[in-house]
Amino acid sequence: SEGDPRMKRILVLTVCPEAFDGFLKLPLAERAVKKGIMEICVKDLREYAGGSFRHMDDSPFGGGAGMVMRARPILDAVAEEKLAHSASLCIGFTPAGEVFSQKMARELAQREELILVCGHYEGMDERAAGCFDRQISIGDYILSGGETAAQVVMDAVIRLLPGIIRTRSTEEESFENGLLEYPQYTQPAHLPEGDVPEVLLSGDHEKIRLFRLKESLRRTKERRPDLLEKHVFTEEEARLYKELEN
Ligand code: ADE
Repeated sequence: SEGDPRMKRILVLTVCPEAFDGFLKLPLAERAVKKGIMEICVKDLREYAGGSFRHMDDSPFGGGAGMVMRARPILDAVAEEKLAHSASLCIGFTPAGEVFSQKMARELAQREELILVCGHYEGMDERAAGCFDRQISIGDYILSGGETAAQVVMDAVIRLLPGIIRTRSTEEESFENGLLEYPQYTQPAHLPEGDVPEVLLSGDHEKIRLFRLKESLRRTKERRPDLLEKHVFTEEEARLYKELEN
């Protein structure tokens, strides 16, 4: 069930905390923190590695290429966070996770606290996976570490929180109605590269709404036919879609 978004705290666990310096300076993150809407905490997993070498990785049992992230530092860091924030949802980033979507972003935005664990090297010791409530992939490609994936998820979740996005409703966007967004235009109305469609200058709100819906359908058909296969057409959409074929 979808109540009001209420995310309050994100803890990131990473072997590369500096990777988040830039993200924290984005207007999105900066605004969320300055307005007191949420707290973003980044912790170095090496602090949990123990010993003087503080090595986070080791070679895989059974052989094979690359190094594997050790389980203990991850389990200890997550356990420590859960002592103070027992309701935290713990997420591990891996290309072997469920693929991230706008629907998942909405679900995560409902949670008060998230722990985001960034994998590195060739993967994690499977025994670390026991502490994850969800494992998430941001798409079918391989990143060098989970840090960029965590930033993608944070961006998508934070912008849904009340008080972050000033003007436009996030409910009208691509994927919220299962279609790609219609094209947008601003001043000037005429450029050598093309004119703004007449209807958008007409002031006729109903005509504009229909034009935009039709352009959404056109784009989705051309660029993301996979979305249309799952789409449940309203009567109005079915009529506009038919017009595209003529
Ligand atoms: N780590 C490496 N590749 C990844 C991906 N595609 N999504 C999430 N975490 C990853």
